[in-house]
Amino acid sequence: MILVTGATGFVGRHLVRRLCGAGEAVRCLVRPGSPGLQWLESHPLEVMPGHLLDADALAAACQGSRKIIHLAAPIHEGRDAWVERVHCEGMARLVEGARAARVERLLMVSPLGTGSSAGLPFLRSRGRAEDLLRESGLPFVILQSSLMFGLGDRLISGMIRLLTRTGLLLIPGTGKTMLQPIWVGDVVSCLLRALHDEEVLDRTIPIGGPQHLTYEEIADQVGKMLNIPRVKVHLSRRAVAWATRLLEGLGLNPFLGYRHLELLEVGTITALDAVRRSFGFQPMPLIEGVAYHLVPRREMGAPRPPSGAERGSRTRDQR
Ligand SMILES: NC(=O)c1ccc[n+]([C@@H]2O[C@H](COP(=O)([O-])OP(=O)(O)OC[C@H]3O[C@@H](n4cnc5c(N)ncnc54)[C@H](OP(=O)(O)O)[C@@H]3O)[C@@H](O)[C@H]2O)c1
Repeated sequence: MILVTGATGFVGRHLVRRLCGAGEAVRCLVRPGSPGLQWLESHPLEVMPGHLLDADALAAACQGSRKIIHLAAPIHEGRDAWVERVHCEGMARLVEGARAARVERLLMVSPLGTGSSAGLPFLRSRGRAEDLLRESGLPFVILQSSLMFGLGDRLISGMIRLLTRTGLLLIPGTGKTMLQPIWVGDVVSCLLRALHDEEVLDRTIPIGGPQHLTYEEIADQVGKMLNIPRVKVHLSRRAVAWATRLLEGLGLNPFLGYRHLELLEVGTITALDAVRRSFGFQPMPLIEGVAYHLVPRREMGAPRPPSGAERGSRTRDQR
């Protein structure tokens, strides 16, 4: 049994589809009232209600689970103190439950740039949660990822929606932050391998796609690929943050939340061959991935065409 937290989120949905497709027994810890609950219940898996701060729910969810993939993250929460509590207390309770249930491996996905010297409170408290896991004595793998894209993401999907509806390409701030976009399906492949591979055990592994791109270059590539008349608009980060907070306050869902905007200001790059070195395959380039993502049918079911390098190592995924 594999326990997944955050299964209703962007990465979680892609992961759960692949795990269920591979015939794995999956259990998901889901907050009562989660908007993703109905979607999850349409899959052959076990749903256990619970919040990350609910020690009893976590202990029950861990019982009988051999492995855990921890994706739940309070990115939509407003207050830093609450975010820190969910990160740290949530991790402490998960570790407690995992230890009691003799879980064999606990995987976690974080953004690149976490740690005690990080500029953002979100990244600092996530860094503390990672430390709790590293010091727990449990076998672990921590993936630290750059920006992910794919069906259901906020950034690229939002960019495409705005562009197709208004012809505008919006660049918040300078647009010069360096990113290394990675397709969510490739992140899921890394997670599936990290469930079994011995070489990655007890390691913190940075991952990213095959290109270093600024936010503006990402927007340019997406605009060029869609090939529709467009106007690029630079807006100060302060103006975008203000508009985002206003929309969020009105209960609307801007394509980038306030914390996403904050995280976008942090350069998140690693080696271009990071995935190949740790997981033995080459992730998909941005435009190939976005083109693929524009035909959602493929991501919803049929497997994507593997890249040349991945074809050679695909059998490792099937273990
Ligand atoms: N997306 C990226 O580009 C990216 C890049 C690097 C790293 N990451 C990391 O990857 C992980 C998954 O990201 P994502 O984009 O899938 O996030 P997401 O779409 O925002 O999903 C977050 C998930 O966490 C759950 N959650 C939040 N607070 C919770 C709580 N207190 N108790 C239980 N569940 C809770 C949410 O449940 P509800 O359905 O109830 O809201 C949702 O399922 C995160 O750790 C994130 O930091 C993401």
